[in-house]
Amino acid sequence: MATPCAKDIVASISHIGSLPQTLAAVLKVINNPNSGADEIANVISRDISLTSLVLRMVNSISAGRRRKVTKISEAVVVMGLNSIKVMTLSSSVFGLVSDKQLLQKCNIKRVWRHMIETAANARSIATSIKYREPEEAFVAGILHDMGIVLMMLHYREKYLELIQKMKDDHKGILNTEKEIFGLTHTEVGAEMAIDWKLPPSLAHVAMNHHSIDAGIIIPDDAILNDIIALADRLSTEPFDEYYPDLEENIIFIQSAGKRLGLDSIEINRIRKESVMESIRLAEYLELDIGDVLEILTEANNKLAGLYFSLEKIYLEKQKLQEMINEAPQNEAVASA
Ligand SMILES: [Fe+2]
Ligand SMILES: [Fe+2]
Repeated sequence: MATPCAKDIVASISHIGSLPQTLAAVLKVINNPNSGADEIANVISRDISLTSLVLRMVNSISAGRRRKVTKISEAVVVMGLNSIKVMTLSSSVFGLVSDKQLLQKCNIKRVWRHMIETAANARSIATSIKYREPEEAFVAGILHDMGIVLMMLHYREKYLELIQKMKDDHKGILNTEKEIFGLTHTEVGAEMAIDWKLPPSLAHVAMNHHSIDAGIIIPDDAILNDIIALADRLSTEPFDEYYPDLEENIIFIQSAGKRLGLDSIEINRIRKESVMESIRLAEYLELDIGDVLEILTEANNKLAGLYFSLEKIYLEKQKLQEMINEAPQNEAVASA
């Protein structure tokens, strides 16, 4: 059997389980350039669980407002039509996955948690650097690794092989995916964004979020990709050994921060706040992302890991400097 391409995997989602009715309706409205606030409010209002989900998300995002938003039409006004459209889409995404048994084996809680943490980090980074639309960064964070979910659903048990191989070989997600499947979740995610006719910026992010300076031409899209690339690295990894090289991780975080004009103190603040924000968001979304104590412990461990790695790099640099400083003296002694 020929190896499937990203397009085949995205198409196969309809064989795995049909797109939920509401998501199909939401996509129809999003894809119609003439659709406006009334149409989107209409679609959302027809689905009770989606209505409460969107209201919870809107209220969590605009937590500073004195009065809670209680109507979808009001949510549309508060958030703006575009934000509401993409937010509805990301809310629907969590309902897309129905094979609970398979997903439990793949530890889907960690994947959801990774997506929510990335979204919370992304919004916080976007606000910090005054990016034009922090909600866009939030949605990009939720959707950036959808390729992983589609691959899990497509490859099923074979995906468990990938999770194990990643642990054994320490080659990271992209190399291991290429080895086993011949393609990566970034390609599948980008194809999904194109197929679902999402904004091109979201397809760029799905494709390029594992690198910075990915050669994206539109400046705002390049910034959005840097935001998600940094937010992704700051989050709890969806699998063990996802990014196996801790030092490479540190250097990446520092470079991405520099590109966005964020120093390590600011990055640390963003990370700390986002952990709590993701716990709150998961509650709003009624999404099980694991035990709160476990989440906080893991977040602390990650920070400690990053700190020790940073210390190691610093000590190595210092040692190298000492060797350079001593070199002329040694040469002088040798030639005497
Ligand atoms: Fe990814
Ligand atoms: Fe990610």
